[in-house]
Amino acid sequence: MKRSEEIILDQSAAPAFSADQKTHLGSLPLSSRLSPALSGEVDLPGDKSVSHRALIFGALAVGETRIEGLLEGDDVLATARALRAYGVEVVRDGPGAWRVWGTGIGGFEEPTSELDLGNAGTAVRLLMGVAAHYPFASFFTGDASLRSRPMSRATKPLIEMGARVTARSGCRLPLALTGSAQLVPITYTLPIASAQVKSALLLAGLAAPGETSVIEPSPSRDHSERMLRYFGAEIGVADDSTGARIITLTGQPELAGRDLSVPADISSAAFPLAAALIVPDSQVLLRNVGVNPLRTGLLDCVREMGGDIKLQNARDMSGEPVADIAVVASTLRGIDVPTARVPRMIDEYPILAILAACANGQSRLRGLDELRHKESDRFASILVGLSAAGVSVSTVGDDILINGKGAPPSGGAKIESYFDHRIAMAFVVLGLACPEGMVIDNGAPIATSFPDFVDLMNGLGARIENA
Ligand code: S3P
Repeated sequence: MKRSEEIILDQSAAPAFSADQKTHLGSLPLSSRLSPALSGEVDLPGDKSVSHRALIFGALAVGETRIEGLLEGDDVLATARALRAYGVEVVRDGPGAWRVWGTGIGGFEEPTSELDLGNAGTAVRLLMGVAAHYPFASFFTGDASLRSRPMSRATKPLIEMGARVTARSGCRLPLALTGSAQLVPITYTLPIASAQVKSALLLAGLAAPGETSVIEPSPSRDHSERMLRYFGAEIGVADDSTGARIITLTGQPELAGRDLSVPADISSAAFPLAAALIVPDSQVLLRNVGVNPLRTGLLDCVREMGGDIKLQNARDMSGEPVADIAVVASTLRGIDVPTARVPRMIDEYPILAILAACANGQSRLRGLDELRHKESDRFASILVGLSAAGVSVSTVGDDILINGKGAPPSGGAKIESYFDHRIAMAFVVLGLACPEGMVIDNGAPIATSFPDFVDLMNGLGARIENA
């Protein structure tokens, strides 16, 4: 067996960013201190994945779509701006209440300038699928983090369907995509499960005649499939004996504008949930959280770790399962998280790593290669941050091994967020349970997904302040 590699705390382990990235977001150092028990009931921000899709599918439907609970984070606002650039009327009526006047498939206008999607990987990949409908060029760009992320995984199938792409080397943004009025429907097997790529293909398939099929090696979040059905498209889903999932969309449907409510984001709920587990004597209720089974891998992990969580009041919200989650502080044990769980909790590894650091015994988080391609190289960001906080961590190939001592580490470190909202929030949460707290160099990126994070957490009793 390969020996585990010790983490060497030098700059080569850390994700690299340019000076441009460092200035783009501004700087908001945060400190979090050992907190008293957290308690209370909270409503959390809307689901980011569902919010992007609500705006985009609303824009492609015919007539008015009214949305409640839309996430007003920077990423989703970037999607709204891009849709406006395509000539779609998108209006904010009040907090979380938005209206979109859909043009129908084929009704977008050519944008007069480039589309800057900021930090939003989901927005750029989904909108490339829509841009493939049109024989004009759409010019996509974003911040330094987004410009460093690979786009070929989404452009490859779109090119097969008839789009043309010119991009910077490595198929990175800025990127121009010229679509086609005669898109060809294809059957495409995804090399890696990815909801963003699957959704880009399905969105392109809306304009193609006949059936577009996507085969996923294992199921990724299915918000697009659910929402397509909700807006009136015909879409079939079948699982084969290997665990692969085949999604088949009948092209050129007439989508009809709908009213929809966005559930709270389980990927944001994960932070108060974890904080309530590790801050002694806490008791918290998280309301209206989306519990789509393809998003709840973290809940499975927490149960295996011995965490006290209960789902209550289960119901449906615009085609998505929703529940309230009751959390009670718990003694946690280390677990072995299989690679097969990655697609169901891809965004939750930073906060799972924090739970593992506070648990008793070793946790092994397997198969994390995809974390290297997120808002930061999360594989590296997790290792560097945990080591700095005094946690013993190591790696074997794509697995991270975390040795919990049955109590939070001492903390007392200043760590970098690497301009990654989920890295920032994860380490802020850790500081709430550490005797010496934690300092995070920059909490500004938190606004991409959870603009009220600090106030909401402090409302529960957390001690987070500007450092
Ligand atoms: C998302 C899919 C995930 C996730 C991202 C949101 C989506 O990425 O990491 O934050 O809304 O489709 P992949 O499934 O493409 O890896």
